[in-house]
Amino acid sequence: MKKLPEDFIFGGATAAYQAEGATREGGKGLVAWDTFLKEQGRFLADPASDFYHRYPEDLKLCSMFGINGIRLSIAWSRIFPEGKGKVNPEGVEFYHKVLKEAKDRGIKVFVTLHHFDTPKALFDQGDFLNRDNIDAFVDYAKFCFEEYPEVEYWTTFNEIYPIATNQYLLGIFPPGIKYDLSKVIMCLHNMMVAHSRTVNLFKENGYSGQIGVVHSLETKYPASDSPEDIHAAFLDDALSIRFLLDATYKGGYSKETLEALDEICAANNASYEFPEEDFIEFEKSKDRNDYLGINHYQSHFVKAYNGENAIHHNGTGDKGTGSYKVKGIGERIYKEGLERTDWDWLIYPEGLYDLMMRIKKDYPNYKAIYITENGMGYKDTFDHGIIMDKPRIDYIRKYMSSLADAIDAGVNVKGYFLWSLMDVFSWSNGYNKRYGLFFVDFETQERYPKESAYWYKQLAETKTIL
Ligand code: BG6
Repeated sequence: MKKLPEDFIFGGATAAYQAEGATREGGKGLVAWDTFLKEQGRFLADPASDFYHRYPEDLKLCSMFGINGIRLSIAWSRIFPEGKGKVNPEGVEFYHKVLKEAKDRGIKVFVTLHHFDTPKALFDQGDFLNRDNIDAFVDYAKFCFEEYPEVEYWTTFNEIYPIATNQYLLGIFPPGIKYDLSKVIMCLHNMMVAHSRTVNLFKENGYSGQIGVVHSLETKYPASDSPEDIHAAFLDDALSIRFLLDATYKGGYSKETLEALDEICAANNASYEFPEEDFIEFEKSKDRNDYLGINHYQSHFVKAYNGENAIHHNGTGDKGTGSYKVKGIGERIYKEGLERTDWDWLIYPEGLYDLMMRIKKDYPNYKAIYITENGMGYKDTFDHGIIMDKPRIDYIRKYMSSLADAIDAGVNVKGYFLWSLMDVFSWSNGYNKRYGLFFVDFETQERYPKESAYWYKQLAETKTIL
């Protein structure tokens, strides 16, 4: 039995494009996903979970199930359909209504400004590879800070590393480019600059509330004790974790991070160039982040690999079909005896504990941590409204237990947001990979609490992990 703090947030997470639907309603502008998904012809993001029309019902469910926090994102293209310039009043009003409804219910809201959905007009000009779009993002953020003073917790970006790699390494996000390490590195860097500039603007203008960033941090372990595997895990970690945390908390990249980047670049015929002035922004923002949001679903065991790039994304839930081999970094392997989901995501709760302890040690200027996403994608079965999702409950219990251990060991963790509040659309997996506490019938949009929703309610009420 483990206890969580009295003032802990037991939340549920969503994102605009995955939950709202209504992609062509209310004056919303296009995002690259609209055309990318149409071209692929696998699935569309409409109606998703129709949060655009059903947010009162979803927030009511939060209240009924003891959920005292929600993570949602503003769709940039609802506010500025073209990314900048003309404002769309209907979009602006929509988020006022959502925020009011949540406030009336006493639900804390964490608002993300960018969750994978750059407006298409800006995306087509190079997304964050184009530095003009850093300015556009900062202007959009400023507009939101002034328009929504009621927001207590702002997040600049959701998951910079998956954006860069899914767009330019795996090719599963638009524009669908594979194995371009130069683009990956420049996208990571430019988005960190956009984050840093936004934090500096927020603090220098004295806006109310807190601001932070959400990073996807998946712990890396060597597949064996061999020096080659230890080095491969170091390289994978450097690109996916150290790079982002150094830029967030150290005012720039450490020597080890840059050495790793150079090695990765040499193996991939890639290069990078970081303008000097960016480091002035990093230096100013390094102690200004009020919190770090961590999305953590899995860990990776990494083996040395020097063959050709070979990544296959398991987007169907056929266990064993995923593979990840990157030249000059490593191969992420399936470790014998460890459990993984049907989408090949390794279940390894120790990874969360190790990650938190490392942040406490290596980045002691972090102020607070929220687990902003954790959860289990699962093919739920619907039996006359009864959804028994025991594997998901086991997953959450184990990860929350690791979290409680980290708190006991002195890490300042203040909340947990389960991905996802209700079933939502999954970017590269569509609708059969479900994560929600509430089952959504995507035909009728009816919501049904799963067994995990009742379990989570009890957890939120007792603050005790049994
Ligand atoms: C995170 C994202 O990467 O993982 C979410 O922030 C996403 O938007 C979630 O849905 C789960 O990923 P997936 O691919 O299983 O839907």
